[in-house]
Amino acid sequence: MVSSPEPGAPDTAMEDTVNELVERGQDLVDSILDRAPFQSIVDKIQAGAPVWFQDDEGLSPLHAAAYIENAELLKYLLDEGAVWNAVDNLHNSAGDVALSLNNEECYTLIRDAGIRSEMLLTLLSKRDVQIESPYSLVLKASDTTAAGSTDTFLTSKLRYTTDEHGQDICLLTLEDGEEVGVMMGWERGIMQQTVRKLCSDHPNLSRGLKVLNIGFGLGIIDSLFQVLLTPPSEHVIIEAHPDVLQHMRETGWYDKKGVTILEGKWQDHIEALHIPGFDVVYTDTFSEDYLELHKFFEILPDLLEGPESRFSFFHGLGAMNALFYDVYTHVSEMHLADVGVDVEWSEVDVFADTRERWGKTREYFALRLYRLPIGKMRTV
Ligand SMILES: C[S@@+](CC[C@H](N)C(=O)[O-])C[C@H]1O[C@@H](n2cnc3c(N)ncnc32)[C@H](O)[C@@H]1O
Repeated sequence: MVSSPEPGAPDTAMEDTVNELVERGQDLVDSILDRAPFQSIVDKIQAGAPVWFQDDEGLSPLHAAAYIENAELLKYLLDEGAVWNAVDNLHNSAGDVALSLNNEECYTLIRDAGIRSEMLLTLLSKRDVQIESPYSLVLKASDTTAAGSTDTFLTSKLRYTTDEHGQDICLLTLEDGEEVGVMMGWERGIMQQTVRKLCSDHPNLSRGLKVLNIGFGLGIIDSLFQVLLTPPSEHVIIEAHPDVLQHMRETGWYDKKGVTILEGKWQDHIEALHIPGFDVVYTDTFSEDYLELHKFFEILPDLLEGPESRFSFFHGLGAMNALFYDVYTHVSEMHLADVGVDVEWSEVDVFADTRERWGKTREYFALRLYRLPIGKMRTV
């Protein structure tokens, strides 16, 4: 019979197991860094050394293999279940290590493991399999604060203001009183490029484009649509937050010619929108996770009028880290290809506009280059 320890008494058997795993894990990391022969690493793992281990500095066996640039070992560790997106105490993943060493082979191995894992997890979550996986990146937000949950966000207070740099901002007050940006003026450059790619050489521009935008925020992109050479013939905006809708009322958006504002979540309006078909569709919501964007991708073909129609979305997925951003660039491209939409990417340098100026408001987008997607229906 197995006896459990008295309540409150230390579970020494458990402690011994944990200590042993830590020792084996540390030995695995050290052996890899010491460039021990491949077979001896395999033997250690087969004998129970944990591939998911991270030491006090957050270093995992995968980080170690990336540091010694051993592609064969990286592949083996990934096959054995190493966590592709584990980050060390400096927030670097093994992929970032490979990238910093300019080792394309090692980087691609880790990135592709990330892509496979995220694709698989999207598939499972569509089948309603509950996933709490360390391998999932931004697939399903477990954040229930207003920054990560739409329902909490929609009942939170927003504030439109101008910061000390003269930047227009829309701020959200979190439960603990901290304010985070919903939309920032520094994103204007991205919005300008997006509108240029979506509209400037669109064959239907001269008759006035039929535009659908989801998420008004500061109204940057909607204002840019309005000042096109020929203004949109139809401009539908779906916006869910009551404070944003109030701001739109105060700034005259309800009275603009050709503008229709649908109040509420896009999820509640989209069915009714299938019929007309749009020349241009853009989406940039706040606080929604990748699964919601993926659902949007699946209905996108019904929203686009034809092969000349164009689609874009604000690609901030995984933008705290170069590897994660790359993985989500590929995952979104593959999911769009699944629904018959081919994407072309271009880059926007978001530091071009003096980095220091935007300070903390740039924290959720840590990279220099924004990847701008433009999707079109594939013609057969
Ligand atoms: C980042 S802002 C959009 C900024 C906009 N692209 C611009 O150029 O200013 C996101 C907006 O999406 C809205 N939003 C969030 N979830 C939504 C949903 N499910 N349906 C419609 N709007 C939503 C938010 O209220 C917010 O106004």
